[in-house]
Amino acid sequence: MSKADDIFYRQFGLVLIALTLFTLIVFFAARAIAGRSFEQIQNSPKAVLERIQPFGQVRVGKPDAVVAAAAPAAPAAAPAAGSAMSGEQVYNKTCVACHASGVAGAPKVGDKAAWEARIALGADALLNSSLKGKGAMPPKGGNTGLSDDEVKSAVTYMLEKTGFK
Ligand code: HEC
Repeated sequence: MSKADDIFYRQFGLVLIALTLFTLIVFFAARAIAGRSFEQIQNSPKAVLERIQPFGQVRVGKPDAVVAAAAPAAPAAAPAAGSAMSGEQVYNKTCVACHASGVAGAPKVGDKAAWEARIALGADALLNSSLKGKGAMPPKGGNTGLSDDEVKSAVTYMLEKTGFK
């Protein structure tokens, strides 16, 4: 072995020792900082409970802050969705199907003669047959989602359109 080889081996050895020491220092420093291993963290009861949470949670008792904050929006939206339709709207949505052209013998809107005999029955009787159905007409013209008041205003609208009062 030459002298140069000697120096090389000695220096290489020193570098290896230095790298090994560095590795050990980093290893213990990392453990000191993290404290717990990745698996210990993942399997802690808190972490497990968080992972297996159901999608929805049932709230019972008093509405809490979240519900209270969301609540003001509901009453504002409700009247819009549930507000009664006008007689014209109800007619155009439900009654027009039969009463515009006289389907199945339905008295046509605008045909005074067809309505005259019926008007003689009285407003209550006409409303009653509209609500309960009569002959080929199903109750509420087949739209049971209508309120009694909506049907009533539709009858009024139809009679006014025909030319009564
Ligand atoms: C499926 C077809 C149809 C629809 C939809 C319909 N009607 Fe009729 N309607 C009839 C027929 C048929 C008659 C005649 C019934 C008879 O005298 O036998 C009638 C009769 C009536 C009468 C007279 C009742 C009487 O006692 O003589 C009124 C009032 C009336 N309809 C209102 C309405 C209103 C309001 C609507 C909508 C909410 C409506 N109809 C929807 C078919 C319909």
